[in-house]
Amino acid sequence: MFTSVILAAGMGTRMKSEMPKVIHRVCGKSLTGWVIDASKKAGAKSVLAVVGHKADMVKETLGDVCEYALQSEQKGTGHAVMQAADFIKAHKGAVVILNGDTPLITADTINKAISYHTSEGNNATVITAILDDAMGYGRIVRDENGGVLRIVEHKDASDEERKINEINSGMYVFDSDSLIDALGKLTPNNAQGEYYLTDTLEILLSQGKRVGAYAISDNDEIRGINDRVQLWEAERIMQERINRMHMKNGVTIRLPETVLIESDVEIGSDTVIGPNVEIKAGTRIGKNCVIGEGTRLDKAIIRDNVDILKSVILSSQIDEGTHVGPFAYVRPDCSVGKDVKVGDFVELKNSNIGDGTKISHLTYIGDSDVGKAVNFGCGTVTCNYDGKHKYRTTIGDNCFVGCNTNFVSPVKVGDNAYIAAGSTITEDIPSKTLSIARARQVNKDNWTDKRK
Ligand code: UD1
Ligand code: CA
Repeated sequence: MFTSVILAAGMGTRMKSEMPKVIHRVCGKSLTGWVIDASKKAGAKSVLAVVGHKADMVKETLGDVCEYALQSEQKGTGHAVMQAADFIKAHKGAVVILNGDTPLITADTINKAISYHTSEGNNATVITAILDDAMGYGRIVRDENGGVLRIVEHKDASDEERKINEINSGMYVFDSDSLIDALGKLTPNNAQGEYYLTDTLEILLSQGKRVGAYAISDNDEIRGINDRVQLWEAERIMQERINRMHMKNGVTIRLPETVLIESDVEIGSDTVIGPNVEIKAGTRIGKNCVIGEGTRLDKAIIRDNVDILKSVILSSQIDEGTHVGPFAYVRPDCSVGKDVKVGDFVELKNSNIGDGTKISHLTYIGDSDVGKAVNFGCGTVTCNYDGKHKYRTTIGDNCFVGCNTNFVSPVKVGDNAYIAAGSTITEDIPSKTLSIARARQVNKDNWTDKRK
């Protein structure tokens, strides 16, 4: 068991954003959100984020998934961890320090670092990486036997030290008592006048405690995000991880480099995802579906055997065997039944559509309850808004709605009713009724000649 402390108080000036850096998103989840998730997946019993810059905005975005400590002035990484002292004292044992702007860290690496830390009997273990270009990073200075001596910041390093290519990832495992003790001894005597967390290692060594380094194998995991280019690079890596995971689970993804699938999406086996598809967090897709090119799904629940092409579905449910698109727009709060057809240029909003109903073309259905096996002709419109209020339209089972029908809601249609094409329905229609609500046609003979 361990706890983790995530440093997320910094400003992130290079993002050039009104928003604190740590809540910028990668695959739908904030940078720090990913770090919290990795901690929890690794088995953290509690997680604390040290927040500072626009703390309220950060807390609101992250929510109650972790505890918080406030660092109102950013006086360095050591100072940031000091703000979590109460939390660290309250949880004896291993404490993992992570950065809120390093979203690619995995649970697996956290666990491996902890295992290494424990098996070596260390008081502190720094997670390191070997980089071709170590520019900007703190360097790991080792003695002739390979033991860690200290970490020197790039800004404070000599030319000789700058040649070291083993760097500090900014992530560590500490024994909580040792960490608290060393934090108390930090001083801001360095190029930046900050309290460096890195100095705790030298302090612990001077006390005869054990300090080690765990070198990571995949350098991508320690990528910190400082600007929008790095945000893109991280998203590309994260997106590949997510898409690969779905492929391993039996999902076919065509041109996966064009497919954006956020975190927290479930997709059943034998489903095929086409190019240029975007699937937002909270979406669940069943088995054997086709999510065709250019589709966007946001918090959609899609059951098995559904076929969707070039359509947008938001916060709605689509039941088994239904066909949607091309160019359909399903707005929030719709429940579409089994074996329904929602065809081209059809918009649905806040409506329930019964099994087997066909809404094939150019139709708007809003605030409606539609029964089973209804056939809508082309160009049906529910007129659900009178300029002030929205009203519902109710249509029973097995109705036939002629082309270009308007339902002026509130209005109810019984089962098995027929509506003539071009009708404007303003009154309820009993079941089994044929309703014709349009002006009778008048043909005037030879009208064209008489006009002259
Ligand atoms: C730090 C390390 C460096 C390491 C690098 C890895 C120190 C002194 N240096 O440097 O050895 O190679 O990370 O990326 O620790 N933060 C706060 N409060 C503060 C200062 C920072 O919360 O007062 C947070 C930042 O928001 C960020 C993290 O701590 O998430 C790292 O801070 P940053 O300023 O980026 O440290 P570096 O100078 O890059
Ligand atoms: Ca940094």
